[in-house]
Order: sequence, then structure tokens, then C-alpha cells
Amino acid sequence: MPAHIIDGNQIARAIRAELTQEIEQLKTEYQITPGLATVLVGENPASQSYVRMKNKACHEMGMYSEQHTLPATVSETELLALIAQLNQAKNIHGILVQLPLPKQIDEQKIIEAILPEKDADGFHPMNMGKLLIGLPGFRPCTPYGVQKMLTYSGYDPAGKHVVVVGRSNIVGKPIANLLLQKEKEANATVTVCHSRTANLPEIARQADILIAAIGQPEFITAEMVKDGAVVIDVGVNRVEDPSAPKGYRLVGDVKFDEVAPKCAAISPVPGGVGPMTITMLLHNTVQAARASIRG
Ligand code: GUN
Repeated sequence: MPAHIIDGNQIARAIRAELTQEIEQLKTEYQITPGLATVLVGENPASQSYVRMKNKACHEMGMYSEQHTLPATVSETELLALIAQLNQAKNIHGILVQLPLPKQIDEQKIIEAILPEKDADGFHPMNMGKLLIGLPGFRPCTPYGVQKMLTYSGYDPAGKHVVVVGRSNIVGKPIANLLLQKEKEANATVTVCHSRTANLPEIARQADILIAAIGQPEFITAEMVKDGAVVIDVGVNRVEDPSAPKGYRLVGDVKFDEVAPKCAAISPVPGGVGPMTITMLLHNTVQAARASIRG
């Protein structure tokens, strides 16, 4: 049987429809328009494209958003001053500083300068700590999106062996912790593999649900996947392709053509995790706006 293609755009639309109602309610009952500030430093084309899409999604949803674009040469002090200003701004409920940042800037220092209650990315140690111990807080958008993709398409991770390939702070570590929790949409048995794992293919083959987040184009091949597994591809890699209109094409961390025939379900790149990440950012911003009522 051909694999079920998990359509991130379709699931994102369903979640956005629910969010639209919440946004309307915040506007009419509380006169609050959820607001997101995005901060883009430098001219990394992928970062420019992500930030553009995040602001566009806010506008489509009737939310407020503002983009702050700073040169690659900006100092850490200047960036911290902007964050302090956004922390104070009443119309801003969520702040997102697009990563990576130029090397003169200490990324962790910037993440920690964002108020935890405006941390729409869920990267602040306060929110990461809450995730680890199962307390409510902002969940990082990509891991949260992957969790929603699984449950919306009927693949509840409870009791399943989830193998995460990749241990980044943005994806691998938080997704492992999210799916491990003793709560609905989780309860998985989780193994994390990474660049120093011995016998990675053998471990990956044990996965009922395989999550590829290693940042290497087409790293996961057919021999690393069990028949009937569910595969979620978090990778977004630009590979040169002179025949493509832009001179490059996007490929995931999974060799889609050879892996898809073996799977029960697989998410494509593009059109898989990407739209979900943006949707969960909108969700977190709305959650932050709602929390601001209780102040
Ligand atoms: N860079 C790559 N992914 C992300 C993300 O989810 N949030 C931010 N802020 N930067 C990123």
C-alpha cells in the first residue's frame, strides 16, 4: 500500500480555523489583538524567508505583527535594548528572534533576555524547564507542530517507540521530552540518536515513529526504516539545483522516494512540518495574549 502522505498544510488549516475563533473572541470581548514582534538579524536568505512567512501568517489571521530588521553587524547591546523595549510593549504578546544569530552575539543571552511570558518560541530556559517537568508553558513550535501532526492524522504516540534522530535544542531535545510526558498526545517510549550514536541504522529501524531532525539532506535511507513505520521529516535543506527556478531545491532529512514506499505514513518536504511550525507560533502568541488578560 502506498504511504499515507501527512499533509502539514491541511492540518495547519484545521488548527488555524480554531485559532481564528479565539482571536475573534479576544478582539470582541477583551479588545485585545494578539501581537507578535519578529526580529531578523542579517541577510541569511532562509531566515529572511521564514520571518516573512511568520509575519504574513499573522496578518492572514487578523493578528498584529511587526518586523524588526537589524544589520548583521548589530551589537549584542543594541539587540538587548530592542528586546527590553519589546518586553515592555503592551501591544506585543510574543517575541521571536530568528536564529541563528551572527557570531558576535551570544544567542543564549538573547533567548534569556526575552520575558518568559512573551517567549512565543518556547526557547527560554524557564519554558524548557517547564516542558521537562510537565508544567504548562510555551512549547517550542516545531516539536509542538510534530506532536499535533501525529495526533491529527491518527498516529497517537502512546506506547509507541519513537526514535528521534538529532539532539538540537530547537527540535531534537524538546520533541523527545514532549512525547515522553505522562499526558495525552504523548506517553511514548523515546530514544534519541545523534552524530555520535553507534549503530544508528539499527536503532532507527526499531522505530514505530521515526523523527528526522539531524539537518543533513536525505540522511535517512530505506535501510534505516522499519516496514510500516510513521516518518516525520523535520529537515529543510537547500541543495543546489541549476534546473530549479531559484537555483536550489528544498529537501528533507529523509530520502523520500526510497523511504515512502516502506512507510505507513510520511510527511513531505516542503508541505509537512514547515506550515505546522508557523501555526504553533500563532497558537503560542494567542496563548500569550490570553494570559495577558489575567495579567
Ligand atoms: N531557526 C530555525 N528554527 C527556528 C525557530 O523555530 N525559531 C527561531 N526563532 N529561529 C529558528
